[in-house]
Amino acid sequence: MAKTFSLAKYILLLVTRVLGVLATSTFNKDSTYIAQSCIRACGELSAQFADAFHYGDDDPDFAIWDMKQQEARPACRVEPSTPAEVAAVIGIVVTSWCRFAVKGGGHSTNFDASNSAGGVTIDLHNMNHVKLSDDHTRADLGPGLVLVEAYRALEPYNLTFVGGRVADVGLPGFTLGGGISNLSPQYGLAVDNVFEYEVVLPNATIVTANVDTNPDLYFALRGGGNNFGIVTNFRARIVPQGHLLGGDITFHSNYTDQIVDQVYRLTTDLADDTYMCFSSRYAYDQAQDRFQISLTEAYYQPVLKPAVFDAVNELPNESSTVRIDRMSNFALDAVAPQGLRRIYATLTYRPSRILHSKLLEIFSAEVEGVKTTPGFTSSIVIQALHVNAIKAMKERGGNALGVESGSPLNIVALLTLGWSNAEDDKEMYSYADRWMQQAKDQSIQMGLFHPWLYINYANYNQDPFSGYGEVNKRRLEAIQRTVDPKGVFTSTGLCRGSFKVL
Ligand SMILES: Cc1cc2nc3c(=O)[nH]c(=O)nc-3n(C[C@H](O)[C@H](O)[C@H](O)COP(=O)(O)OP(=O)(O)OC[C@H]3O[C@@H](n4cnc5c(N)ncnc54)[C@H](O)[C@@H]3O)c2cc1C
Ligand SMILES: *[C@@H]1O[C@H](CO)[C@@H](O)[C@H](O)[C@H]1NC(C)=O
Ligand SMILES: *[C@@H]1O[C@H](CO)[C@@H](O)[C@H](O)[C@H]1NC(C)=O
Ligand SMILES: *[C@@H]1O[C@H](CO)[C@@H](O)[C@H](O)[C@H]1NC(C)=O
Ligand SMILES: *[C@@H]1O[C@H](CO)[C@@H](O)[C@H](O)[C@H]1NC(C)=O
Repeated sequence: MAKTFSLAKYILLLVTRVLGVLATSTFNKDSTYIAQSCIRACGELSAQFADAFHYGDDDPDFAIWDMKQQEARPACRVEPSTPAEVAAVIGIVVTSWCRFAVKGGGHSTNFDASNSAGGVTIDLHNMNHVKLSDDHTRADLGPGLVLVEAYRALEPYNLTFVGGRVADVGLPGFTLGGGISNLSPQYGLAVDNVFEYEVVLPNATIVTANVDTNPDLYFALRGGGNNFGIVTNFRARIVPQGHLLGGDITFHSNYTDQIVDQVYRLTTDLADDTYMCFSSRYAYDQAQDRFQISLTEAYYQPVLKPAVFDAVNELPNESSTVRIDRMSNFALDAVAPQGLRRIYATLTYRPSRILHSKLLEIFSAEVEGVKTTPGFTSSIVIQALHVNAIKAMKERGGNALGVESGSPLNIVALLTLGWSNAEDDKEMYSYADRWMQQAKDQSIQMGLFHPWLYINYANYNQDPFSGYGEVNKRRLEAIQRTVDPKGVFTSTGLCRGSFKVL
């Protein structure tokens, strides 16, 4: 069955390739190849979408977080406002067989993931509705929202949702990949707080998926990324929110061992206090040519000095933004300067002080070799996947992430690897790979490696779906084939960006 399918797909691919070569094609200003099929698709979209349509070489206002993605010139960009319009766009790109990418908040660091190279960029930003249910327990959240927009819409009611920490990160990508929130020790990952999805399937039909209706698709969307269609609504859990504690406290690198100790305690012994959430960042600062370590404190109550952070707060800090405030105000803190080329890469391990220290040592040694690269900024961020978040993954039929662990896990992301110039791309990719390989080897050697990978932090050359386990991976593949028999959302289809199950 599977064999026949791949053979059929292979033949289709060959035919498409040959047709692609034969067809007259063109190059836009920046010599991105644009297939004839996309010229046709853009022509049709232009007629239907008027002002909500832009040719790629005449779209100066379009901005996206990672400069590598900014350079991926699409043939055109279209801004649908309703599920029916999204369906119309899918109908056109599939009929003409033109490649496309779907943009939520546009924070992916992988080329072609949310801005199409030579195809159609489907930009969802107009679909930014927030509709609160009468009983205030759930809301319909649009895929055009960035997190802070949803926070601001809910705050007048003293309500919030399980969202992330940076204002302009997109709700759809964040949620479809998992979504680690300051509220995760309390409620789980964002993806486990979505009761229902509305989805435009590859054949342009609009369906809903919840635990009773289309349960397989519901399972698949809980961690399966952009492999099944375009999500046009997230019906999500709404939770109370008053003022809360948040902010970063930064220390001289002399205190690294103490913070590493605290990270371990906050992940294990102190994790019973589920109002508490934290992350820790060890970062190289090029301007000062030195490393610093910081701890981000979050507490889901208006308590300025919760006991869990006592030991951290006693260490002499260099600066602190810790305060009581509203979610939307914390979310405004931007992480790093804009306009850089970016890589994220990730590793999951079982909590350990020694391994954490080793990962930082490997990082410091690797930074030494590349630290004068123009615009270079790099850090290691450690977060905990709380046991409650792991438990919440089993609710409503379970999610696709396949995190099998009875105890907390640590996730490390090589965050804010940024640099200025394209000529340094190769060097920066190999720097990321060198750190990753040594970090992985070290964690395997110490028996602390965990195969799960967080898709929202994964580098293009990592394979998160293998980390979901054989059973879940096979199930995702089977669901993919069922909802997408033409293979539109696969690595040989039209929407190839980001991570593909097939
Ligand atoms: C500064 C910064 C801070 C971050 N903070 C956090 C954090 O606190 N917690 C956390 O867990 N993660 C965090 N992340 C990671 C973040 O979750 C991912 O980068 C995520 O993919 C961003 O989603 P987006 O919508 O902005 O990105 P996009 O690049 O628009 O989308 C990501 C992928 O999802 C696909 N997609 C988007 N919308 C849809 C849709 N409606 N239907 C189908 N597919 C879709 C896109 O095609 C793309 O492949 C952060 C990232 C950055 C850069
Ligand atoms: C929200 O909380 C604040 C502070 O506790 C309170 O003054 C205000 O009345 C609340 N608003 C609503 C709509 O309940
Ligand atoms: C850090 O440690 C070095 C070496 O012991 C010492 O000279 C320096 O004063 C320390 N700095 C801080 C801020 O603690
Ligand atoms: C950081 O240090 C300052 C000055 O010593 C101190 O007043 C403040 O309480 C510290 N911040 C935290 C969050 O502990
Ligand atoms: C669209 O695809 C779904 C999933 O494969 C299928 O159930 C449905 O019948 C299809 N609809 C049409 C109109 O082809």
